[in-house]
Amino acid sequence: MLKAIVHTDWTTGTINKNIYGHFSEHLGRCIYEGLWVGEDSPIPNTDGIRNDVLEALRELKVPVLRWPGGCFADEYHWRDGIGPRETRKRMINTHWGGVVENNHFGTHEFFRLCELIGAEPYICGNVGSGAVQEMSEWLEYMTFDGESPLANLRRQNGREKPWKLKYFGVGNENWGCGGNMLPEFYADLYRQFQTYCRQYGDNKLYKIAGGANSDDYRWTDVLMQKAAGQMDGLSLHYYTVPGTWQEKGSATEFEASDWEMTMRKALHMDELLTRHGTAMDRHDPERRIGLIVDEWGTWFDVEPGTNPGFLYQQNTMRDALVAAAHLHIFHKHAHRVQMANIAQLVNVLQAVVLTEGDKMLRTPTYHVLKMYAVHQDAEALALHGEFGSFGTGDEQPMAQVGATASRKDGLVHVSLYNLHPADAAEVRLELRGSDGDFEMEGFVLSGDGMRAHNTFDAPDLVEVKPFEGIKRDGQAYLVPMAAASVATLRF
Ligand code: AHR
Repeated sequence: MLKAIVHTDWTTGTINKNIYGHFSEHLGRCIYEGLWVGEDSPIPNTDGIRNDVLEALRELKVPVLRWPGGCFADEYHWRDGIGPRETRKRMINTHWGGVVENNHFGTHEFFRLCELIGAEPYICGNVGSGAVQEMSEWLEYMTFDGESPLANLRRQNGREKPWKLKYFGVGNENWGCGGNMLPEFYADLYRQFQTYCRQYGDNKLYKIAGGANSDDYRWTDVLMQKAAGQMDGLSLHYYTVPGTWQEKGSATEFEASDWEMTMRKALHMDELLTRHGTAMDRHDPERRIGLIVDEWGTWFDVEPGTNPGFLYQQNTMRDALVAAAHLHIFHKHAHRVQMANIAQLVNVLQAVVLTEGDKMLRTPTYHVLKMYAVHQDAEALALHGEFGSFGTGDEQPMAQVGATASRKDGLVHVSLYNLHPADAAEVRLELRGSDGDFEMEGFVLSGDGMRAHNTFDAPDLVEVKPFEGIKRDGQAYLVPMAAASVATLRF
């Protein structure tokens, strides 16, 4: 029998709530349609942002939201997105789908969105095609309270007080779409650009340097060696792509072997965090600098018939398991990972919400993040056990079951997943370190098979339900984890 033993009196660190962060880019139907419909839209909205999505995001407790990209960030010129909307520049989003970008969603609208969902803003500046002065002036526009041309321009555009902005990224993927730079060159540019990212008044910036692509450990090493003293965070991007970049595989039409490959690739995040963390430890043994995984998630072929540049994909129980596996890994590396942002919020890649006209659905990934929100800013608890094995072929087997636990406000939460697409697993769960007289409530997410997903006609096929069938076994609990399921128990 599989076992998980939680030590309720042994904490291993705080789980930064920002590990539950999100990312929204001017890409496909994420910003336009997914979030922004405009004040005159028949879709009910608040200041142009659709109410159904706002409500879903509020329930999700989004701690931090990254914007405007992604690759779009290094082509974005912030002045295009301020002032009266009808006079804002119309242009082509050259990177994503070649469609018209009317700039109706800009700086003011982004801060309003963050305010409406209670998320901290995380803005990514343009290094690839922008200038030091442009980045510096954006920060002045957003955060300066005194008398200056940029602060006055903000006031003229309707915002008297500066916004609070902590998280600021200096470029995105500068090894690729952000300028195709070598790490030495970007490190020098980073040092230069960040010099003019001024801290105005009591606004303290947390500066994030553009980090590595998946296993490019040299990038991390060079950045840390040359610029550790000038940064608070260093990013890392890694996507779970079951096939190749040319043929990634379908989001919904897949076999057990594709499922297994997807899980193997998702779990690779653990090795990446260990090895990038080791590279960072060499230069920052006190672990002051955060590893910021500001893009992660599944990346499949787009849904048939949709614009290939829009990266629109469905989301099944496979995505739910990938999400749970990542969150467990982030909890484990909480000493170094200070933020992670799943890509992307609405209608793009591993989205939590999908929209079609005035319809909206919550994906299985949404339900995992919502069920796991109890771990935000909680104390992680030590846990060990026997988690079984899963996997075919010659590759090293994976653990069939994953478990993570935390404590907050007098409650202990234990989350579990069963990675196997077909086999159930019974887990004997024991809580040690307290009197053992707990009341327990459980919630579980599972569907009718590994491909289960929600559609606009059946938006609640996959949803969280009370977890029935957990039995007491002395001081322990016997937890019947269905195949491809994710659960959270509260004690
Ligand atoms: O999330 C989609 C894209 O993936 C982002 O724009 C880019 O940073 C990454 O390559």
